[in-house]
Amino acid sequence: MKVIISIMMAVTVFTSANSATPVYLDSGAPVEQRVEDALSRMTLSEKVSMLHAQSKFSSAGVPRLGIPEIWTTDGPHGIRPEVLWDEWDQAGWTNDSCTAFPALTCLAATWNPELSLLYGKSIGEEARYRGKDMLLGPGVNIYRTPLNGRNFEYMGEDPYLASRMVVPYIRGVQSNGVAACVKHYALNNHEVNRHTTNVTVDDRTLYEIYLPAFRAAVQEGGAWAIMGSYNLYRNEHCCHNSRLLNDILKGEWGFDGVVVSDWGGTHDTDQAIANGLDMEFGSWTNGLSAGTSNAYDNYYLARPYLERLADGRADTTELNDKVRRILRLAFRTNMNPGRPFGSLCTPGHVSAARTIAGEGIVLLKNDHGVLPLDLTSPRRVAVIGENAVKMMTVGGGSSSLKARYELSPLDGIRNALEGRATVEYARGYVGDSTGEYNGVTTGQNLNDDRSADELIAEAVGLARNADYVIFIGGLNKSEHQDCEDSDRSGLELPYDQDRVITELAEANPNLIVVNISGNAVAMPWAGKVPAVLQAWYLGTEAGNAIADVITGRVNPSGRLPMSFPASLGQVPAHSLGTYPGTKRTDGTDIVDCNYAEGIFVGYRWLDREKQQPLFPFGHGLSYTTFKYGRATVDSRTVTTDGTLTVTVPVTNTGTREGQEVVQLYISDLKSSHPRPVKELKGFRKIRLKPGETAEVSFTVDRRALSYFDPDRHGWVCEPGRFEALVGASSRDIRSKVSFEVRD
Ligand code: GLC
Repeated sequence: MKVIISIMMAVTVFTSANSATPVYLDSGAPVEQRVEDALSRMTLSEKVSMLHAQSKFSSAGVPRLGIPEIWTTDGPHGIRPEVLWDEWDQAGWTNDSCTAFPALTCLAATWNPELSLLYGKSIGEEARYRGKDMLLGPGVNIYRTPLNGRNFEYMGEDPYLASRMVVPYIRGVQSNGVAACVKHYALNNHEVNRHTTNVTVDDRTLYEIYLPAFRAAVQEGGAWAIMGSYNLYRNEHCCHNSRLLNDILKGEWGFDGVVVSDWGGTHDTDQAIANGLDMEFGSWTNGLSAGTSNAYDNYYLARPYLERLADGRADTTELNDKVRRILRLAFRTNMNPGRPFGSLCTPGHVSAARTIAGEGIVLLKNDHGVLPLDLTSPRRVAVIGENAVKMMTVGGGSSSLKARYELSPLDGIRNALEGRATVEYARGYVGDSTGEYNGVTTGQNLNDDRSADELIAEAVGLARNADYVIFIGGLNKSEHQDCEDSDRSGLELPYDQDRVITELAEANPNLIVVNISGNAVAMPWAGKVPAVLQAWYLGTEAGNAIADVITGRVNPSGRLPMSFPASLGQVPAHSLGTYPGTKRTDGTDIVDCNYAEGIFVGYRWLDREKQQPLFPFGHGLSYTTFKYGRATVDSRTVTTDGTLTVTVPVTNTGTREGQEVVQLYISDLKSSHPRPVKELKGFRKIRLKPGETAEVSFTVDRRALSYFDPDRHGWVCEPGRFEALVGASSRDIRSKVSFEVRD
């Protein structure tokens, strides 16, 4: 239908003091003036054209006014290689390889907000250099099930940890004049049925568990963009969900940025107009690999919107609000002439990747100090396992990368042990020998048609004659592993690795297991293995980071950002049977998933059920030891609107420098509502030399003491007795002190 739009515009043309330059082009003018001036100059069709994609990862600007296009890019761990204009396939550029930074689960495991700032700044520099205005990341969805294929992109099970770690990342990215687009808002906590799952969750759980990291991203991180998630909440798709977008995000939190749909997450024009969606991408694609070509004019916020504007079904109220937000994004990014120029694959970025990876690795177990390796005399080291050689930066979905390089664990270990040990390798098992994703190939040929028995026999034979055996296995980025758009089928390691590890343990007591994964895994052999390292997807510098920890060049200081359950029975999403949900029988393809466990997610559940996990939230060992003194408070009573200081002396009682993550949990001993036994409300990573003591203090305020009361729709700090628990993990409380809260 040819839409003839009569444009009656009372054009109020703003001009700056220097009348030659229109205000919207005057970078010295206040942003809001520039927004209003640009808006006043735009035609209806120009406004609508800004609301939706024009290609896979870009949206239109206003050529007539010199307002640039907006270019977005995945992902949270590095800058995605270019795809063709309207395809998911590679564009075949030769200048678009990147630094692959560690996965965000690894960043969370550092418990170091300073590294989060370094991470954001570094990845933002690479996005800027590649000419991108919006980075489609970070992701902060809460870890509700260890089977979720995308947990590796997120920051764990605790809203406080995720909140503290996401804010600096955003500020770092945006310091480059590149928008962070925090995702996936909200309640996208597993991948199976990701487009059709309708989540039911009570308000208290929503506000206490699933929203805090997004709220921190907006109100403290100042995020310029938020990505809606594919799933539904209260039967409305989250990409145009009135409660999440209008009431909470833009209303309660005052978000002034843009809401971007996930790719293919838009399903209805009227909802998209009214419910807070600002930019529509990827419609009629599956968000990964397939889609309708050149559908952009048919997008829900394209021609259908113009038709509604023309026939009066819609007016320009919502339209102007959307365009104001997009213009504000432009003036913050590609129309901000003061923004830096960025940089790509610099030594600084590589160093950042190595440091973050090294600080994120978690030493789970280290019986009789097997680690660090004793290399005072020549050693024979056997390295076993597919993940010692398999590239992990390719695959896993939209976060897949074309890394400038990826140093494998085996090569990292070989380099580090050069001249100090002989290093021999055996595959041990064959898992996934593919090496391609969306047209990016690893170049590796991992094909091996030997039988499992042959592979194990070779590995055991090598192990028998070694001083140390390092098994490097875990998951990978293939489907039903750590991979977008699919979930794992169980907690167990795939490819019969448990058998390999068990036989290696029988062959040599000096066995070190390095688990590379973005998720908790079952470790039935944990009692037989003296040393276990949790090494996440570590990116470009994986090999160096693992070698740094194994050789002791780096003293491990990572702490688990999620519980490692002993079984799925310890996970309420499974023990209560609500995952992945129940398919409706009404002919729709909706799957209802009720978060019946409420706020009791992760350690909150394990504490309430008095269950012993394999490894607890916040756990991580060091090559030194730390002693905690008695925790004290500056007052035994505090008013509900006052603050309290908790202080604890921590001493390095070992023989080498190390970092400790001092964790503060708060326990409301008597409450009118059920509350978790304790909740993380503070942490501090401190570096101590042998014998050094630090006085670590935490300020406890009403937010740390409150729970969300849905009836009052607000946070309530109830008078009564509380305890501050200070420790090295959620299950290693070293000292506690009680205090009274009074009105
Ligand atoms: C994908 C993902 C999202 C990504 C987007 C663009 O399907 O869900 O995280 O940023 O589409 O690739």
